[in-house]
Amino acid sequence: MSKVTVVGAGNVGATVANVLAHKDIVKEIVLLDIKGDVARGKALDSWQQAPVDYYSTQLKGTDDYADTAGSDIVVITAGIPRKPGMSRDDLISTNAKIVTSVTKSIMEHSDNPIIIVVSNPLDVMTFAAYKASGLPKTRVFGMAGILDTARYRAFLATELEVSPKDIQAVLMGGHGDTMVPLPRYTTVAGIPVTEMIEEDKLDAIVERTKKGGGELVKLMGTSAWYAPGAAAAQMVEAILKDENRIFPCCSLLEGEYGLNDIFLGVPVKLGAKGIEQLIELQLNEDETKLMNTSAQHVRDVMEVFKGMGI
Ligand code: LAC
Repeated sequence: MSKVTVVGAGNVGATVANVLAHKDIVKEIVLLDIKGDVARGKALDSWQQAPVDYYSTQLKGTDDYADTAGSDIVVITAGIPRKPGMSRDDLISTNAKIVTSVTKSIMEHSDNPIIIVVSNPLDVMTFAAYKASGLPKTRVFGMAGILDTARYRAFLATELEVSPKDIQAVLMGGHGDTMVPLPRYTTVAGIPVTEMIEEDKLDAIVERTKKGGGELVKLMGTSAWYAPGAAAAQMVEAILKDENRIFPCCSLLEGEYGLNDIFLGVPVKLGAKGIEQLIELQLNEDETKLMNTSAQHVRDVMEVFKGMGI
């Protein structure tokens, strides 16, 4: 039976732990935060929900990394969220130090975990965790694509008045306003979306998706947690059940899509070993241009990270 650690007991981390507990597929979830009492409180609250919602997943809150020993999967949500007016990139100086030190502490207690990064700026924080962990690239990746795709699918479901279940899509690139939605690969129960919606409406949805995180920050004064938390929990499920599901995940590219030494969202196959396969789509000229613009944006933030010398 497996053990999953979630680092960061803020809104996103607590939601990952709670959604995952409901899936009833993990023996123990450790919720760790430097604010130990908050982690202990949220874990206890989730455990007290178990008799109501019928799950056996044990939850433990802590501020001690020794409690994370032997974790199969670690989800890193630690760091500060953005406030209105901030971009995800504004978080780099604070969150890069946090994600690096969290990863090192995790690696002191678990031999070969799979690490899923959720902290922002996502693409660069995944790179930071990869560097600090020394793990192979198949075992360190980031959650953003499922969330961004979910937003796109939800907006389309509203517009078309259909169930979001029937909208399939893939979205690539960085987790920021330069993300690359791909209408060519979007279907409604197998029907190309372009046969169901006018071009200007689809364009408006694509634009809204790109700024989807910011829309929520404006509404709530902090960043989102339900959809981000559920998305990370879905990745954990795919790994633990060895499902070989296809999701867009933030992954290290080594030549794929003509890009090197950069973490960026691309479709991958997720199973027991982590990233079992990286899928290379044949992008057209326009899509390639968007992907390269997104990569350049992530590289600019990576330069800031490298300049920090950590
Ligand atoms: C968002 C944050 C989690 O997109 O990046 O809501």
